[in-house]
Amino acid sequence: MPPRLILIGPMGSGKTTIGKLIATKFNLPFRDTDHIIEQENGKSVSEIFLEDGEDKFRALEKSVLRKELLSDDTILALGGGAPISIDAQSALKAIASPVIYFDISLASVAPRIGFNRDRPLLLNNPRGQWELLMQERRPIYEAIADRVIDVNAKSESDIVDEILMVIS
Ligand code: S3P
Repeated sequence: MPPRLILIGPMGSGKTTIGKLIATKFNLPFRDTDHIIEQENGKSVSEIFLEDGEDKFRALEKSVLRKELLSDDTILALGGGAPISIDAQSALKAIASPVIYFDISLASVAPRIGFNRDRPLLLNNPRGQWELLMQERRPIYEAIADRVIDVNAKSESDIVDEILMVIS
């Protein structure tokens, strides 16, 4: 059986926070591609970007994603760039698990990303970089998602309730 639920969306959209709440509610394991990569490699995502380069990180991400899509009954959150490769797009479109995209605006995400030093893609000009990535990625997220949740100005419990309607 594939994951019970897959969360996609940009950095700062709340995939990890909400994913953990859903996992607790259903008593299911929460998995997060970034966290798995960090554990398997013994260093942070930022260190991997810095020491080994983005291409290496994307290769690790691809292989973790391939394995995680076969994992049983998990709540799976993907790093913001994990769904973007052509292979990932095809796999996510084909999978039976509901794929939920957290749609968030720059205005809502800005206070979260501006001060986070652990996001290597946003080190210079975080807001500008985030928006640039979103211009490229938004259509991909939308094409992959079974459901889009507008997470702007919603409380965590509102978002959890919307997701429960999708998966219960
Ligand atoms: C990235 C998103 C990050 C992390 C890495 C690259 C991206 O994950 O995988 O910094 O390309 O958008 P989060 O979306 O969990 O912050």
